[in-house]
Amino acid sequence: MPGKFGVAEMVGETAEGAASDRSFSQGFLWGSATAAYQVEGAVKEDGRGVSIWDTFSHTPGKTFQGETGDVADDSYHLYPKDIALMKALGLKACRFSIAWPRIFPEGTGKPNQKGIDHYRKFCEALLEAGVTPYCTLYHWDLPQALEDKGGWQSKATAQAFGEYAGYTASKLGDVIHQWMTMNEMASFIELGYGAGVHAPGLKLSKQKLAQARHWAVYGHGLAVQAIRANAGREARIGSAENAASAIPAFNAPEHIEAAKKAFVLMNAPYLTVMHTGRYAEGYLKKQGADAPVFTAEEMKVIATPTDFQGINIYTATPVRAAANEDGFEVMKAPSSYPHMASPWLSIGPEALYWVPKLAAETLGIKEMYITENGCSSDDVVAEDGEVYDTDRVMYLTAYLTQLQRAVSEGVPVKGYFLWSLLDNYEWADGYSKRFGITYVDFKTQKRTPKLSSKFYGNLIARNGL
Ligand code: FCB
Repeated sequence: MPGKFGVAEMVGETAEGAASDRSFSQGFLWGSATAAYQVEGAVKEDGRGVSIWDTFSHTPGKTFQGETGDVADDSYHLYPKDIALMKALGLKACRFSIAWPRIFPEGTGKPNQKGIDHYRKFCEALLEAGVTPYCTLYHWDLPQALEDKGGWQSKATAQAFGEYAGYTASKLGDVIHQWMTMNEMASFIELGYGAGVHAPGLKLSKQKLAQARHWAVYGHGLAVQAIRANAGREARIGSAENAASAIPAFNAPEHIEAAKKAFVLMNAPYLTVMHTGRYAEGYLKKQGADAPVFTAEEMKVIATPTDFQGINIYTATPVRAAANEDGFEVMKAPSSYPHMASPWLSIGPEALYWVPKLAAETLGIKEMYITENGCSSDDVVAEDGEVYDTDRVMYLTAYLTQLQRAVSEGVPVKGYFLWSLLDNYEWADGYSKRFGITYVDFKTQKRTPKLSSKFYGNLIARNGL
């Protein structure tokens, strides 16, 4: 028997069905994200050079069942289909990356006009569909020729990156106004040069690793300057970094204080130095004799002002106050801690509230985008041809609820890019982990929007949960 309230009131909806108290700010930017090597394929076409991911994925034993990005989603050819999917979803923005070896096959030297032509056509098609291009210049596909000369262990790679960024900005600045220098330095350095599980598969010493981190952030700074000088007045520049996601163990003043300290220290060699121009004392102390070697001039370059900061968030790291030198401690997760299909992807929705808030409070960042968030699921195509990824919908609902909480409190997050539009090549996991809201049959390249894609389209239309 109906009581005082009807169902709509009970679930907090207004008569129009709009979730009045769970909406995002007006003009909030909804997008999706992909990366060149994960979707493009066509690795030998139109003069593209070899990247470290071609080499790594073709080295036996490095990736799941030896899978490579040779074909991936074939988006190099099928991008009109992908853009049609974006349009149908109502996406306002598309984050994609340019493959450096398509522009400079050898990393430096002679540029490849066909590479520029491809991305111009792609961006024009996006604009035609009413979708704004958000371009990342480096999503891990370093030209092999540069790796052969030391890769990110070498200052010359940072300089080459600056030149590639400036050249590309000068050629595409009319169709791209939103630029990100690099994607997740913390991943490509720590996993590629530290743990050796991503390309180029090295396990450097502590000092050499610290130096590689330094050349990565230095390369970012050089690229910011080069884009600024070449892309035209409308250019807005940032990067997409996977902040170490410290969150307080629970809502208590001492743990919030601990999370602030953790945020600054855990992000010391990346976000923190980029926004402060200094390596945090605690970081230098922990590195000791293995600290990076740097000049004052390099530190200035690293902290070149940007217009926004992109943050990729998947997991959370709960910390609590501790009476030690750092003032915090990270708690070890029990084995029952829930995760998605990728074992590393533990579920921590509150990261979407705390991380942007702590970034604004501790580093003074004034404008942010969530440049990646999403999850892997064991998706299957049901007998009726649909993909019922209810777990992904659960994950996204939980995270976006926390983002809405942040935005409604005035934390300056201006947009959100879901990873990913399509199932794609998940690096060392090959095609075994699906992150798309669109299912891709890798044999036929058939694309099927999943339940989560309908969820996302509905959320965009309502601008709220
Ligand atoms: C991020 C990467 C992205 C994708 C997602 C799942 O770390 O930036 O390319 O692999 O994880």
